[in-house]
Amino acid sequence: MRDSSSPNFYTFWSTRSSSLVVFCILVPLVLVSLVVLNSDSKTSSLWYTSFSGHPSEGVHPPLNSSALIYASGGGGGGGGGEGERRVFFEPIASFISPPLVSAPSPAPQPAAPVFEGSSPNNTRRARRKDTKLERLELGLARARAAIKEAVRNPNRTALVDKDYVPKGPVYRNAYAFHKSYLEMEKLFKVYVYQEGEPPIFHDGPCKSIYSTEGFFINSMDMESRLRTRDPDRAHVFFLPFSVVRMVQYIYPRDHHDMKPLRRTVLDYINVISGKYPYWNRSLGADHFMLSCHDWGPYASGGHPQLFFNSIRVLCNANTSEWFNASRDVTLPEMNVRSHVVKVGGPSASGRPILAFFAGGSHGPVRPLLLKHWKDRDGDVQVHEYLPKGVSYVDLMKKSKFCLCPSGYEVASPRIMEAIYYECVPVTINAHYVLPFSDVLNWKAFSVQVSVEDIPNLKNILMSISPRQYIRMQRRVRTVQRHFMINGPPRRFDLYHMLLHSIWLRRLNIRIHPQD
Ligand SMILES: *[C@@H]1O[C@H](CO)[C@@H](O)[C@H](O)[C@H]1NC(C)=O
Ligand SMILES: *[C@@H]1O[C@H](CO)[C@@H](O)[C@H](O)[C@H]1NC(C)=O
Ligand SMILES: *[C@@H]1O[C@H](CO)[C@@H](O)[C@H](O)[C@H]1NC(C)=O
Ligand SMILES: *[C@@H]1O[C@H](CO)[C@@H](O)[C@H](O)[C@H]1NC(C)=O
Ligand SMILES: *[C@@H]1O[C@H](CO)[C@@H](O)[C@H](O)[C@H]1NC(C)=O
Ligand SMILES: *[C@@H]1O[C@H](CO)[C@@H](O)[C@H](O)[C@H]1NC(C)=O
Repeated sequence: MRDSSSPNFYTFWSTRSSSLVVFCILVPLVLVSLVVLNSDSKTSSLWYTSFSGHPSEGVHPPLNSSALIYASGGGGGGGGGEGERRVFFEPIASFISPPLVSAPSPAPQPAAPVFEGSSPNNTRRARRKDTKLERLELGLARARAAIKEAVRNPNRTALVDKDYVPKGPVYRNAYAFHKSYLEMEKLFKVYVYQEGEPPIFHDGPCKSIYSTEGFFINSMDMESRLRTRDPDRAHVFFLPFSVVRMVQYIYPRDHHDMKPLRRTVLDYINVISGKYPYWNRSLGADHFMLSCHDWGPYASGGHPQLFFNSIRVLCNANTSEWFNASRDVTLPEMNVRSHVVKVGGPSASGRPILAFFAGGSHGPVRPLLLKHWKDRDGDVQVHEYLPKGVSYVDLMKKSKFCLCPSGYEVASPRIMEAIYYECVPVTINAHYVLPFSDVLNWKAFSVQVSVEDIPNLKNILMSISPRQYIRMQRRVRTVQRHFMINGPPRRFDLYHMLLHSIWLRRLNIRIHPQD
């Protein structure tokens, strides 16, 4: 059913006639991305866990489930093939982290010459498609094997790179990451569905707190190297909608009714799953969406398979709200106030303040921080509002540690800001998966403080020796590259780190051709 509250609805679905989209002008901008460790070591035991036709079965999300379309049994539909295995979960992301899972190598797919010479009948078309999928899976299996081999047998002279060679303790496994990155550049192809019109599709915000959403959507539309125009050659499929724009254009403000967000998502998936075979083939597991909006996870509930199977790239990476680090990707949040950010800051001796925070008292964490530290201690400067004339950026540059507590949502733009200004980030949150934690070893260049430890904050920071601090700050400089926003994107920057995270999630699964 069309939704009468969204008068522009019909125009969304026509294929765009040209690729002319206003691009975010982000030219010399700094990028920052965070990586979070995938602490879910359980994933290593998940080889051959399958998705069945009804991923929502038996699952009760901690959200208000009566409001979820999938819980009502309506909506998405199972896509047939009840109980049959289509997608196998094979966690490769753990290859990047040190404890290597000794898992069996995926069996090489046969080259599927089956249909050659067989009599033409109507299974032939489907078989030809399957062959293409088998070829893609074979390529992925080779990449997986190459990465595994790199983990087992690091040969540091074998990887030459004119731009950058990852090394040092900021990486969980620098060599495996590099190998995986190069494999991605060699092989990985993303298909962007052309359906949908700006402003809600193929465009997004480039300013303020949700800017990484627009930045990625626009960069993806301009991408040439890792993108394919032929969906049969794609390893993943991008659903190019902007939840921020949906909220701006189709969320009826006075009604507090968020359902149009989910209806829009559901309609879009119905369009692409009806028109192309790719969604049904994997039940959405090789598709991804991206959103920095607080309601991104809510909007993803518009289709059960999107919610449970697809790769969701989200700022609101709250593991208590079904964010799953082995399948989803954390999108770093960044508050873009101007198009040029001057990256850098003084060394430790130029930073007289021990720790700094300024921000409103909202969400579950900040009230505790303010209660314990606001106006208490000159070394730990915690402000709710900065006094007039005091510069936020200057204070970040004068502080050794920058506190990054969660707000309403788990993500904080302060993490990126701290990295830009070379202030060692102190993350204070629960249920948050730090950005790129499949690759980056956050403990090497940041401090994680639990909510319970807020009263001990000063002791914790004081116990870090000056030498240790100098090392950590140097490592912050090393990871800056991975959080940089460049127009056009450059290797190893935020945009490419996000694609690499998506690449790892795609390597995590194997899709079985159907016949
Ligand atoms: C859950 O959502 C439904 C529909 O939006 C609403 O009627 C109901 O009151 C909500 N229940 C709770 C416990 O919030
Ligand atoms: C995919 O599955 C849906 C739901 O079962 C169905 O309506 C749609 O026609 C299928 N798409 C294709 C291309 O077969
Ligand atoms: C069509 O192909 C299937 C699968 O290969 C085969 O079992 C079937 O006999 C073929 N039908 C005809 C009429 O050739
Ligand atoms: C490491 O790689 C280099 C360059 O590819 C090669 O010449 C060398 O034999 C390799 N060493 C080992 C131990 O595999
Ligand atoms: C995360 O996703 C994987 C793959 O879908 C699944 O096997 C695993 O059970 C999920 N973990 C949690 C905690 O839901
Ligand atoms: C994360 O999810 C949990 C469970 O819904 C919730 O209690 C918490 O407030 C959410 N946000 C943050 C910032 O922790």
